[in-house]
Amino acid sequence: MIEINPTSRINGEIHVPGDKSISHRAAFLGAMTRDGVEVSNFSPGQDCASTLACLEAMGCAVEQDKALNTVKIKAPTGLKEPKDVLDAKNSGTTARLLLGLLSGIPNLFAVVTGDESLKRRPMGRVVKPLVAMGAKIDGREFGERLPLAVRGRKLSGGVHALQVASAQVKTAILLAGLGAQGATTVIEPSPTRDHTEIMLEYLGVPVLKDGLKVTVYPTSSIPGESWRIPGDFSAAAFWIVAAAITAESELRIKEVNVNPTRTGLLKVLERMGLDHAIEDETLSGGERTATVAVRSSRLKGTTVSPEEVPSLIDELPVLAVAATRAEGITEIRGARELRVKESDRIHAMAINLKALGAQIQETDDGWIIEGRTTLSGGRAKSFGDHRVAMAMAVAGLVATGPVCIEDEECVSISYPGFFDDLTELTQTCLKEVSS
Ligand code: S3P
Repeated sequence: MIEINPTSRINGEIHVPGDKSISHRAAFLGAMTRDGVEVSNFSPGQDCASTLACLEAMGCAVEQDKALNTVKIKAPTGLKEPKDVLDAKNSGTTARLLLGLLSGIPNLFAVVTGDESLKRRPMGRVVKPLVAMGAKIDGREFGERLPLAVRGRKLSGGVHALQVASAQVKTAILLAGLGAQGATTVIEPSPTRDHTEIMLEYLGVPVLKDGLKVTVYPTSSIPGESWRIPGDFSAAAFWIVAAAITAESELRIKEVNVNPTRTGLLKVLERMGLDHAIEDETLSGGERTATVAVRSSRLKGTTVSPEEVPSLIDELPVLAVAATRAEGITEIRGARELRVKESDRIHAMAINLKALGAQIQETDDGWIIEGRTTLSGGRAKSFGDHRVAMAMAVAGLVATGPVCIEDEECVSISYPGFFDDLTELTQTCLKEVSS
């Protein structure tokens, strides 16, 4: 358990870890290239380590230089049948992208599993379109839950209209489509993060984008590449909110991915009155990268609509914290997906913020939060969910007394250095406390 103490200042400059979504994709696509890929600033989180371990178990060569934070990924003789079950652990992206990759490798047999949280999460959304392409996948609850067994075969492309806005499902189908017969088109109900499309284009693979439709074609050989992965906007989000809601803050977050499919939080916070600037924008591996500068801001409530949700899905827990500090009511709607993340994030955040005295009402698909109530010190549960733990640490910064976070180690899923960075930015010492 870790104790977070109130502070009024989040000051200085910070680099956040490499983007988790982009790192997963670099690993998967790297394993499919002829010459391999070499990326720097690969995500240090456990989720991306799970992806690398699964690919290694399939004969992929992974060379990691932890000091330089570079990773080389190459499968010179192609991907082989793994000798054991592939364990995606806590990582939904690993499991869903693996299912897409494995489905199209003829004759290969593999079983994909995960930890207790991942075994509860829905897989039918990715299994159904892959089966429609000809994949052979079976498992618990008729293919709805892990563990799932896959017997790879030659797939056919086709047109797949998704029921849920999910970049993981879109990517799984596109990965399968690269080896399938004929074109593969995904139609999304609303735009989701487009890192796969950007990376494919960067690697020289033709991708046809037309509104909510994206199409790939059979590709026999993808050459390699090397580039730097930008910082993770979803990690930066904790510091953006922390700086905004503390009284005397001025923070610059360097080299952050500002892909507009990811930065919905900035749009919403801007409406709420955020004082911020985007500076020094460049491109890295085809992705927009910039410095995000944030100052203490006087926020007011807003409504987040269902259409906005995919662009800030992972940032909603910390937005709920910001809403407790905003004048008036904030309503977040259309975010039912939060119930099937690493934890039920709607419930987890409502329980935790209520325990500190927030006025928060849990709805079926979001929250109604009445702002500028005093948050007191107390206890928060991570529910084993990295984003809940980090969001509650940010809440602790603006509480009137210490907030103790239980099972905080789960931050290592995406941001192992989170508490070190918190110490540095607040110039305070964090205390480990026994439960
Ligand atoms: C991710 C997509 C999102 C996001 C997850 C990572 C990705 O999930 O919540 O943290 O890397 O594609 P969905 O695609 O299920 O919405």
